[in-house]
Amino acid sequence: MSAEPNRLDALLSETRTFSPSEEFRANANFSDPAIYQQADANPEAYWGNQAKNLTWFKPFTQVLDWHPPYAKWFGDGTLNVTYNCVDRHRETWRKNKAAIIWEGEPGDAKVYTYEMLGHEVDKAAHMLQKLGVKKGDRVTVYLPMIPELPITLLACAKIGAIHSVVFAGFSPKSLHERIVDADSRLLITADAGWRRGQVVPLKINADQAVEDSPIEKVLVVERVGKDFSSEMVAGRDVFWHELIKESPSTPFAAAEMNAEDILFLLYTSGTTGKPKGIVHTTGGYLVGANTSMRSVFDIKDEDVYWCSADIGWVTGHTYTVYGPLSTGATVLMFEGTPDWPRRDRYWELIEKYGVTIFYTAPTSIRTFMKWGLDYPNSRDLSSLRLLGTVGEPINPEAWMWYHQHIGHEQCPIVDTWWQTETGCAMIAPLPGLIETKPGSATKAVPGVSATVVDETGTPVGEGNGGYLVITKPWPSMLRTIWGDDARYKSTYWGRFKDTYMPGDGAHLDEHGYLWILGRIDDVINVSGHRIGSMEVESALVDHSAVAEAAVIGRSHEIKGQAITAFVTVKEGIETSVELANVLKQHVVDKIGSIARPEEILFTAELPKTRSAKIMRRLLRDIAEGRVLGDTTTLADPSVIESLKLQYKDSE
Ligand code: PRX
Repeated sequence: MSAEPNRLDALLSETRTFSPSEEFRANANFSDPAIYQQADANPEAYWGNQAKNLTWFKPFTQVLDWHPPYAKWFGDGTLNVTYNCVDRHRETWRKNKAAIIWEGEPGDAKVYTYEMLGHEVDKAAHMLQKLGVKKGDRVTVYLPMIPELPITLLACAKIGAIHSVVFAGFSPKSLHERIVDADSRLLITADAGWRRGQVVPLKINADQAVEDSPIEKVLVVERVGKDFSSEMVAGRDVFWHELIKESPSTPFAAAEMNAEDILFLLYTSGTTGKPKGIVHTTGGYLVGANTSMRSVFDIKDEDVYWCSADIGWVTGHTYTVYGPLSTGATVLMFEGTPDWPRRDRYWELIEKYGVTIFYTAPTSIRTFMKWGLDYPNSRDLSSLRLLGTVGEPINPEAWMWYHQHIGHEQCPIVDTWWQTETGCAMIAPLPGLIETKPGSATKAVPGVSATVVDETGTPVGEGNGGYLVITKPWPSMLRTIWGDDARYKSTYWGRFKDTYMPGDGAHLDEHGYLWILGRIDDVINVSGHRIGSMEVESALVDHSAVAEAAVIGRSHEIKGQAITAFVTVKEGIETSVELANVLKQHVVDKIGSIARPEEILFTAELPKTRSAKIMRRLLRDIAEGRVLGDTTTLADPSVIESLKLQYKDSE
């Protein structure tokens, strides 16, 4: 296992602890410490109680039916996610409460009350139905952070159609693969999006992606409205704003869904080349999202809640759309980046809208640290009462900076560990109950059983490290990988009996706190986004100049990890800086800009074990300068040979 040695040392010497203020503790949604012990003693009773916060069309009579690794949660209950997230609030005083406050990158803004959101969702559902979308159909969504994105998701859920959102930064090829895997007939996209004042084409990408795919219709939202160099294809493409005009203004009846019906697919990277379509279902997922909003995020009706993640990732699904809306919260949604037009854009938004709960990634926090205090200090952040982080391990320095300079020492920080597969936060402090330590996600939330085990599956006990595992099923767990049950079983449940293995290393400290150390497989976490090494390797070898490639994640001050590619070129090809740049761009074209290698190191051969496995640990050490100061010597075959001897077949 290759946990980062420096991180472990830093974490284990961390002695600071932080308690919530008396006021926070007294007002917290979850304020009775006995909840941990009660949930532990009877998780099904705990989850059954939490599920009562949703409105069920037909109440469930059984909480869990568990045939490892297959779970059914609330299996005989029926409900509709959109009814829970929108319509039930329209029937209460929340009717005129802001559901989504949206601000676009150029500064345009829209506010949707629950009533208005419901109206738009109903119109969109009528429109999708007219396009032939039915319960169980897969709809692929490739949209920027505009209101039509959550409206689309909620419209699909109202019909009972399965959405598959593909982050708008992904390439046409990545989009194509996901469309084909999900067998979608409809793609919803936009003409283009805004990024730092530039127009980013989406429809052009979509046009390429749908070639030789099952897509029959492309619904296009006009976001930018300028010439986007794409023809609308007659009979296939239709503009959202034109079609929606024909939608009746009548309510759209919410489909009665079984709790175990699929709500969405979301593709994520694994250790092999092919992304996995993670399957989430209706009842369990929403119970997890809703419960964690109340417990971890302490959501209240007065809050203005902002999760800065894109809805293209699971964080945006659970903590911009389904979690907060299911609780009737006011959500801020932002299209732009933190540095456009100035590096205070986030702080400006917090001041402008009076954000009370702010949730972001450690990468962003480290970037803010680098930009300096003038930006946050120039804005009034006193509305904030709770801060969160997600996506990657947070270093204690970044945690302390967040605590001091954004939270002004008044806000508890919830460091939330979870994954696309887990659906909602699994290891995180309940902010009114748990003392926090900078760098630790603390403990599993009530109803979740997390521990650390050794190679044999035996719990390591306090003061030791090993594999993070989840020993009991939980409502928002993935149910399978779309179309690949065998991969579901082997990837997550194959290592230890009836135990979920997330693929992270962790350390359990002497107070029972968990310190997540990072991935133990070949998944790289760049700025909180998962990239499979093999995906990048396949993209590289796809280039005509490349013979072989090995890709690793090396530690990076801001991004957490950065991608380093070791490449051997084909006979007769000259290596050069230009070629390295061409290859970097090739990866961007194949996968998307998030997978762009930070550096490409040309080497005469790749170090392999006798069983032909690439020695990734050696490569990581080389990239991080622990083995070779000057990597230009890498082209010398004898260098690798002598290094291989040192590392032997230890990998
Ligand atoms: O390695 C862990 C890391 O991100 C992985 C999950 O990535 P993804 O499915 O893209 O979901 C990210 C957002 C939920 C995990 O296996 N990770 C996520 N949160 C944390 C984390 N590592 C350390 N601390 C966290 N809080």
